[in-house]
Amino acid sequence: MIPDKDKEELRVRSIRNGSVIDHITAGNALNVLRILGITGISTAIVSVVMNVPSKRLAFGRKDIVKIEDRELVPAEVDKIALIAPQATINIIRDYEVVQKKLVVLPDLITHVVRCPNLNCISNSAEPIYSKFRVLDSFVLRCSYCESIIDSDIATYLI
Ligand SMILES: Nc1ncnc2c1ncn2[C@@H]1O[C@H](COP(=O)(O)OP(=O)(O)OP(=O)(O)O)[C@@H](O)[C@H]1O
Ligand SMILES: [Mg+2]
Ligand SMILES: [Zn+2]
Repeated sequence: MIPDKDKEELRVRSIRNGSVIDHITAGNALNVLRILGITGISTAIVSVVMNVPSKRLAFGRKDIVKIEDRELVPAEVDKIALIAPQATINIIRDYEVVQKKLVVLPDLITHVVRCPNLNCISNSAEPIYSKFRVLDSFVLRCSYCESIIDSDIATYLI
């Protein structure tokens, strides 16, 4: 019999250096990868764990993402707040957690989500990046046309 604690460890192997994004709202691991620009063509070594039990999160489930040899910087961490406001970012060096960061909701986000208004100038051929003011968790207002996104932010991710 493998004790529960060790089973937990077996889900994902330890990494020597990199970032562990923990306490991601269950179901959002792939959106976190999208926000970080990690796609099928990237060479990053990434482990994803979905729907593991968590005492801390709503519905008792969370996702975890582990990225080797990459330390997330504040601008990346804050974008994660849009879809996983309870996430914690652990920076790992030589197998140890050397830093733990909470995500902070940014005031403005540029080129992260597209405007739902198809006539918005940020959706035109003009070389303009989308820009949204973050009014609250999960509520964004387009700085060009004032359209509001207040649900399903993930579906608007660029
Ligand atoms: N070397 C490592 N390789 C991979 N994952 C790691 C490594 N060290 C820690 N982790 C993971 O990083 C997260 C944070 O580790 P920590 O030891 O701080 O756990 P914790 O005390 O449960 O923290 P928290 O209070 O944030 O939940 C956990 O999900 C843990 O499994
Ligand atoms: Mg924990
Ligand atoms: Zn707009």
